[in-house]
Amino acid sequence: MIAGKQQLQQSQLFSLKGSILTLSILTLISFTYLSFKSLRPPLPLSPATPQLTLLPFTTTSTPPSPARIFASKKENNVGEGEDDNDEDDDLITDVYHSPKLFKLNFEEMERKFKIYIYPDGDPKTFYQTPRKLTGKYASEGYFFQNIRESRFRTENPHQAHLFFIPISCHKMRGKGTSYENMTIIVQDYVDSLIAKYPYWNRTLGADHFFVTCHDVGVRATEGVPFLVKNAIRVVCSPSYDVGFIPHKDIALPQVLQPFALPAGGNDIENRFCRTSLGFWAGHRNSKIRVILARVWENDTELDISNNRISRATGHFVYQKRFYRTKFCICPGGSQVNSARIADSIHYGCVPVILSNYYDLPFNDILDWRKFAVVLRENDVYDLKKILKNISHDEFVSLHKNLVKIQKHFQWNSPPIKFDAFYMVIYELWLRHHVIKY
Ligand SMILES: *[C@@H]1O[C@H](CO)[C@@H](O)[C@H](O)[C@H]1NC(C)=O
Ligand SMILES: *[C@@H]1O[C@H](CO)[C@@H](O)[C@H](O)[C@H]1NC(C)=O
Ligand SMILES: *[C@@H]1O[C@H](CO)[C@@H](O)[C@H](O)[C@H]1NC(C)=O
Ligand SMILES: *[C@@H]1O[C@H](CO)[C@@H](O)[C@H](O)[C@H]1NC(C)=O
Repeated sequence: MIAGKQQLQQSQLFSLKGSILTLSILTLISFTYLSFKSLRPPLPLSPATPQLTLLPFTTTSTPPSPARIFASKKENNVGEGEDDNDEDDDLITDVYHSPKLFKLNFEEMERKFKIYIYPDGDPKTFYQTPRKLTGKYASEGYFFQNIRESRFRTENPHQAHLFFIPISCHKMRGKGTSYENMTIIVQDYVDSLIAKYPYWNRTLGADHFFVTCHDVGVRATEGVPFLVKNAIRVVCSPSYDVGFIPHKDIALPQVLQPFALPAGGNDIENRFCRTSLGFWAGHRNSKIRVILARVWENDTELDISNNRISRATGHFVYQKRFYRTKFCICPGGSQVNSARIADSIHYGCVPVILSNYYDLPFNDILDWRKFAVVLRENDVYDLKKILKNISHDEFVSLHKNLVKIQKHFQWNSPPIKFDAFYMVIYELWLRHHVIKY
């Protein structure tokens, strides 16, 4: 009897173990299910980790219509059904790693995210306002301008999730400040904020961020060690050899606006368009560019020229090449990033990224392999073989996806939902979860 009872207890124990296991699996499943269904995603997307791919997605062949994308949404219909409304179709495509999570997190961000901009510093020198919205570093200017006009700004530091240090390195450079002096100016400014306000010391700057597109500007922040180590650096030069930390920092897309010509897209049905296989013209200011030019300069199918075509050359010669080409080669220059990537995207020419280890903008949200060809520098020798090996159908798919993500690489003033500004803000939103005071 006793043995029988023990057996019974044992089997009860086993079945108990079994039910705990089942229960936890069920919990996990329903948790996952709920997280897609509920208004508040329980877990933040962790930026640098691979994201869940069990999401159902449908691929739409319709080109994005701005009117639909930008139409304002009723707050409460979020995630109610699989096909709650048409305007979401544009997001439900596999150019995103996790379309549904992106949509849910994005909407939560729109409702809640608040950023405090330190009010200190004379706007007539290097602070608060951007120098200009044109040129190579326009992204910096747009960010400074956009954040003031946006719904994310708060005057109340107690409401803030993150703190913006509004010092413009672009503007300093515009005034001819030397690198050494820039470093001192940044250091003095940040030290003054640390002394005056209690916010920095709470986290040693982990909930603070600064924005600079200028590569010298990135280096100028190195005088404040915690600014590099702890604060979120939103920079245009996200190569790992300049200390970019992917899970902490944010790659700011470098965009040269205004674009000279309208966006190119969905034009491949016209067989006179995009007749050229590959194109690059630029300065040979890096090792990879020298090799690219040397290997391919006389090729009849790849249009590679080591003479930079001035953007100002009459009749937009440079820009029109992007329209005529299938694949635009984007080798790193003095910096791995360049406005060429955003140009390619805008003109509908599939970018071919030729770089070793470079954090592409919005890498954690967008699946770059769906609209770009991402290669290592060593692939330069096989470039033609690799590009010719891409079937027409694959190219059409890359090109169509490229058109879908164009809006994410465009700055506007005032900012427009899903544009470059909103994407950067979204990246900041993902990172604010890391620390909360
Ligand atoms: C750097 O700062 C020093 C001291 O303020 C000043 O004398 C010098 O002219 C500055 N140099 C540049 C290039 O800005
Ligand atoms: C923050 O800490 C630094 C270094 O300990 C100190 O000098 C500064 O006064 C502190 N700031 C505030 C507002 O207390
Ligand atoms: C390309 O052509 C030029 C002029 O004919 C020649 O000097 C150069 O060596 C050629 N380059 C290659 C890689 O064949
Ligand atoms: C060509 O494409 C096929 C399939 O798309 C792939 O398996 C193969 O490795 C590619 N070859 C080269 C040289 O890229």
